[in-house]
Amino acid sequence: MTQARITVDRDFTIGDVPRRLFGSFVEHMGRCVYTGIYEPGHPLADERGFRTDVLALVKEMGPTVVRYPGGNFVSGYRWEDGVGPVADRPVRIDGAWHTIETNAFGLHEFMDWAQEAGAEVMEAVNLGTRGVEEARALVEYANHPGGTYWSDLRRKNGAEQPFDITLWCLGNELDGPWQIGGKTAAEYGRLAQESAKAMKLVDPTIELVAVGSSSRSMPTFGSWEHTVLTHAYDEVDYISMHAYYQEHDEDAASFLAESVDMDAFIEGVIATVDAVKAAGKHTKQVDISFDEWNVWDQVRYNEVEAAEIAAAGWRQHPRIIEDTYSVTDAVVVGTLLNSLLRHGDRVKIANQAQLVNVIAPIRAEENGPAWRQTSFWPFERMARLAKGRILRLAVTASQISTKRYGDVDSIDAAATWDEESGRLVVFVANRSLEEQNDLTIDLHGLGDVRLRHAETLTVPEGGDRSTANLETTPDAVHMVPLAAAEVVSGAVRATLPPLSWSVIELDVTRA
Ligand code: AHR
Repeated sequence: MTQARITVDRDFTIGDVPRRLFGSFVEHMGRCVYTGIYEPGHPLADERGFRTDVLALVKEMGPTVVRYPGGNFVSGYRWEDGVGPVADRPVRIDGAWHTIETNAFGLHEFMDWAQEAGAEVMEAVNLGTRGVEEARALVEYANHPGGTYWSDLRRKNGAEQPFDITLWCLGNELDGPWQIGGKTAAEYGRLAQESAKAMKLVDPTIELVAVGSSSRSMPTFGSWEHTVLTHAYDEVDYISMHAYYQEHDEDAASFLAESVDMDAFIEGVIATVDAVKAAGKHTKQVDISFDEWNVWDQVRYNEVEAAEIAAAGWRQHPRIIEDTYSVTDAVVVGTLLNSLLRHGDRVKIANQAQLVNVIAPIRAEENGPAWRQTSFWPFERMARLAKGRILRLAVTASQISTKRYGDVDSIDAAATWDEESGRLVVFVANRSLEEQNDLTIDLHGLGDVRLRHAETLTVPEGGDRSTANLETTPDAVHMVPLAAAEVVSGAVRATLPPLSWSVIELDVTRA
């Protein structure tokens, strides 16, 4: 049995839980849009072609903000192709994903869908093949009330009222050699600065995200952020981060420690942002938009799938990276959510990539059912329960040795305290594959505490760490009660199963 202790003090807080931390991402890629959220002709599609079974799962999962329309796709996209009468919209080649794009789904459809899903829209502009002019035109189309060329076109296309999109991404992964229209940091920094200026001249209320590094392993990581922000610090509000994790060579111990990498990545970007702030004598603070993160088997995509997709020729909505998530993957997703929450004072937006079918917590078959992957559960629980203030935890734990990260704590934790509801919630993973973890949570400054609910995601009976939710077994992995949890003399005692991500909810009756 491994052991761990978490000390919670309600006065040791990091900041408010940013609601935009629980975002997701819909890209025109594979089957995320077509036969994912949108499938006219599906028995459960509504009159707009939205799949109501998928929508119900999205609402249950609760993403607060959804990024659209890409991703790599946006760097070759003409947004005008996706507005106006559907019959008049051009069919185009999407070079990013070797796909035929019909444009049957575009901005208006996405706005309607997002409203139905109860999520804010985060719109990306194309700064790959396009620039300042198209970006400012799109802001005018979306946000200007009327009486101008672009805003009147929106009204003619059926949206009398402006869309009022607040959050905008200034392109996508332009540091990447794979990106259509990729740029050097200096080229992008100037383009981001000028695009931001022009977009804010159309609507000064918008918030802008500059492109950061596509991953921590990019050779330009650090210098890219520094150069881009040296140009555009005054004009932008956030810098983006992207990170995907996977298990290499059956090394589960290192995989289960990936939040150590995410913590270091975030802290590295904060250091760079703040260095530019200090050097430029800026007073405002630029924060982080972690607008792509997840578990993704990129080795399989790069070494096998990409070639298969190209060899299959130009097709509409081919299957691309429909990764199936195991119990292990879901526990890692839980630890990544913990890391984001621990940094909620600076990471103000985060988007799990993506929402449906493409490396997604929700799967949907064409003409068939939709179901929750294992990774649905940590997202849904944290999006629903993390409220109020983020707590700064003191953690002492037995160590687990890993190849990539050396010795790491056997647990990974985050917690929130909501004074209004009197609810304290602890999210905690046990990284050990074999051993239970004997956890004590010491509570300071919290008066009378009662256990409200404790549950866990772990290996189900008869399963193993690779067990997944498949079309035929959609409920194999889900949250189950954490039986061995109790409050004893004002402290919580819990036994965390091996390989698990748990949620412990407490009611504080007298703080
Ligand atoms: O989410 C899948 C892809 O990953 C996105 O299109 C791109 O931005 C990233 O490389």
